[in-house]
Amino acid sequence: MDKIKITGGAKLAGSVEVSGAKNAALPILFSGLLTEKKSTYRRIPDLQDIKTTAHLLEQMGATVERSGSELSMTVPSQALKEAPYDLVRKMRASVLVLGPLLARFGEAKVSLPGGCAIGARPINFHLTALEKLGATIELTEGYVIARAKRLKGNRVVFDFPSVGATENLLMAATLAEGETLLENCAREPEIIDLANALRSMGAEIEGDGTEIIRIQGKTSLNGANHEVIGDRIEAGTFLAATMATGGQVLVRGIQPIFLDSVLEKMSEAGAEITRETNAIGIKMSGRPRGIDFKTLPFPGFPTDMQAQLMAALVVADGSSLITETIFENRFMHVPELSRLGADLTIRGNTVLVRGKKELVGAPLMATDLRASASLVIGGLVARGETTVSRIYHLDRGYEKMEAKLKSLGAQIERVSDGE
Ligand code: UD1
Repeated sequence: MDKIKITGGAKLAGSVEVSGAKNAALPILFSGLLTEKKSTYRRIPDLQDIKTTAHLLEQMGATVERSGSELSMTVPSQALKEAPYDLVRKMRASVLVLGPLLARFGEAKVSLPGGCAIGARPINFHLTALEKLGATIELTEGYVIARAKRLKGNRVVFDFPSVGATENLLMAATLAEGETLLENCAREPEIIDLANALRSMGAEIEGDGTEIIRIQGKTSLNGANHEVIGDRIEAGTFLAATMATGGQVLVRGIQPIFLDSVLEKMSEAGAEITRETNAIGIKMSGRPRGIDFKTLPFPGFPTDMQAQLMAALVVADGSSLITETIFENRFMHVPELSRLGADLTIRGNTVLVRGKKELVGAPLMATDLRASASLVIGGLVARGETTVSRIYHLDRGYEKMEAKLKSLGAQIERVSDGE
């Protein structure tokens, strides 16, 4: 198993390009299930989660071809309408096959995701909403079996603006009979990107990016032709790393508007931020200042950036109060960062960070995707050597992270455990 070895202390400098957004690419690839025509997608990142998705689609009978960051797929009419446990367990986003399969084929069998490292993460919002469109749902032997001859448009009000539930329903409604009105929707940029991909297939959608999305169902859709947006969390991770180490970096391939809440907080902590057309600049001189922040649905501060900003704030001048409101149990990076000497106290869903002038390198273990990124940031500032093991978590969502950080001057390398 690979590890990442970091010698901390180098300031980051230079420019780096983000890959396509993982959380946009996953639902978009699943939306290719809605048609028998060939779909082509560009700027698909090279990540473990994308490989898992392609594997799942192939198991269903799809032909998937990849060339560089372009991916094309065709899903025949006699596809297997099932997402088995071993794949859903590996990647929870596999539940996003439910809406498209049900809408196109009238049935779908998907394993329940079960618990995961960052909380219970049920799919009740997805299921209740699909029932509203006329689906019958049966839960048996750990699987959800959904059936509907043809889904019927209806009004759906989500209890919470869930990203996945909004995506599943948006996809399902494109082939439902008549109009669907989705209310209290998630407004993340990835939802707009999914809607754009669906529009390239001929879907009729209005209001994506707002709380209310209106969809006029079609009897069939064409193949998609779509380029995925840049990864705002990858961009934010490079910015947080620069905040921690000091230095000056330009992150390219990302619209600053996607990261507004994060950029505001970074400015408050003393970073000089510049917003360009498709890039964000950061200049950090000296230590960050302590700040408070709270995770919220978009446009609030993203939960997927909580661990990385915390890692930058452990070396702040002053204290910070960080509140997590989206997932319970999303502080697994706290005990690991403490091994570097960070002063962190957890009280319920809040962490008090008392800034320290210096951290000291240590062996660390990654526990989930974004937690691993925060440990890498910790290693970049800590004096001496830090190793981060179990980096398969990192490989699920970051493309060539160590190579990109190295190009910015970090002393970082991937080593195999045997070394
Ligand atoms: C997506 C992102 C993930 C991000 C999260 C929140 C992808 C592939 N993943 O996950 O990286 O951290 O949005 O921005 O895009 N919930 C329920 N019942 C449901 C659905 C959700 O109770 O049926 C709860 C969840 O347990 C969680 C909250 O709602 O506490 C938000 O979840 P949701 O927005 O659905 O996140 P995901 O789509 O799973």
